[in-house]
Amino acid sequence: MGKLFIIGFIGSGKSTYAQELAARLTMPHIDLDRMIESRHGKTITEIFEKEGEKAFREIESVILKEVAAGDDAVISVGGGAPCNEVNLNVMKESGRVIYLKLPRKVLHERLATMIENRETSRPLLTGLSMSDLNSFITRMLRERERWYLQADVVVDPRWVLPETLAREWRSDM
Ligand code: S3P
Repeated sequence: MGKLFIIGFIGSGKSTYAQELAARLTMPHIDLDRMIESRHGKTITEIFEKEGEKAFREIESVILKEVAAGDDAVISVGGGAPCNEVNLNVMKESGRVIYLKLPRKVLHERLATMIENRETSRPLLTGLSMSDLNSFITRMLRERERWYLQADVVVDPRWVLPETLAREWRSDM
């Protein structure tokens, strides 16, 4: 059936969506960030803090290539993973890419909740204040949407549920 890569902005619910989609398609689910963490014995936050973002991106790229060469699965990747030509091509050449696209208002609400809860698992949000959130989202979307929009399929995950996508996908095969 091939691999399905789930991409999208931080907070778009990629892991949960991918997990549900995988269950519906009776395929394994792989979350790239969790795989990076178990391989390196460190959390994503620790890798960012101790080794820096550049090192994280290198690790992310290596593990992505490995997953792309492996067995079929539904694979959720971090928000920055598809945002370079090499990684995007790795995904597109080994499977189909699905972008979970949410309106910026919804992203704003979700990220605001993460900031309020002082979530520490997302290093890019560390130190971000509520008043910076708007410009953060604007900047990130400006940099990233051109990559995200190269996906094979773009869905709003609030309306196209994993079960619906799984049904359509199966009937398309
Ligand atoms: C990142 C998103 C994170 C994680 C890392 C960097 C990003 O994953 O890969 O903190 O650059 O957007 P989520 O998109 O699952 O939060």
